[in-house]
Amino acid sequence: MVKVKVFDSSAARASKRQVMEAPATDAGAFYEVVDSRRSVRIYADEPVPEDVVRRAMDAALKAPNSSNLQVWEIHWVRSAEKKAKLATYCLGQPAATTAQELFVFVARPDLWRRNNDRMIAHLRSNPKTPEKAFQYFEKITKLVYNQGPFGIFRPFKWIWFTVRGWGQPTPREPISLAHMDVWAHKTTALACQTFMLAARAEGFDSCPMEGLDSKRVKRLLGLPRRAGVTMAISMGKRAEGGIYNERFRFDQKDFIHEH
Ligand SMILES: Cc1cc2nc3c(=O)[nH]c(=O)nc-3n(C[C@H](O)[C@H](O)[C@H](O)COP(=O)(O)O)c2cc1C
Repeated sequence: MVKVKVFDSSAARASKRQVMEAPATDAGAFYEVVDSRRSVRIYADEPVPEDVVRRAMDAALKAPNSSNLQVWEIHWVRSAEKKAKLATYCLGQPAATTAQELFVFVARPDLWRRNNDRMIAHLRSNPKTPEKAFQYFEKITKLVYNQGPFGIFRPFKWIWFTVRGWGQPTPREPISLAHMDVWAHKTTALACQTFMLAARAEGFDSCPMEGLDSKRVKRLLGLPRRAGVTMAISMGKRAEGGIYNERFRFDQKDFIHEH
């Protein structure tokens, strides 16, 4: 049996990976996007071209994500009837009711195994896939993300990780279904942020919303119990008065810690 290490940099160096050049980038353009992204609560009556939406969704799905298992979904709610319902389920917030487009970003911890199988099939399709990659998706991910029916493995995992952790650095999560939710939401939130920055880069605006009735939203979208609504996101062009205040952040000294 091959012993697998989760993070083995020597193996990574040894396998003759393709060198990918880092293209030149425009930091100024990036910070302009970051600085001008604001949560917009009232949108102008200007439609968002479909290709803009599709590019933003494409960018969102390029966000970094845990184990590349892509446990996220974007639900673009396009039908007028469903949009109206979704705006109501977003508690009638103007950021939803005045939006040109509405999306729900959904975390799918329940789909890790399906995606894991797809990943293995994808790796198999490439004869050059290193054995280590197979090992990761055939052994490690199954050990780490399988919590058993109703999360029944939790106590066993807790004991195992705790005992192992006495002697060596050991991942402590996920060992429960709740941890799996956090795991999937982290990944999905990165897609959300990428999406909102892409919208801004395209000259449009957005607003993330967690002020919503997740139960009703899930029913509207036909989502199963284990799916989690990370947030709804509205999109459009800012109307006059659509940004309620100057951007404010607390003093960075309380948030940036150097060790
Ligand atoms: C997870 C999350 C949930 C949010 N939910 C709402 C919401 O329901 N309604 C709303 O108007 N803004 C919502 N916001 C936007 C925040 O209020 C906003 O990001 C914050 O005030 C900072 O302003 P800025 O985005 O313009 O920099 C949410 C933001 C995040 C990240």
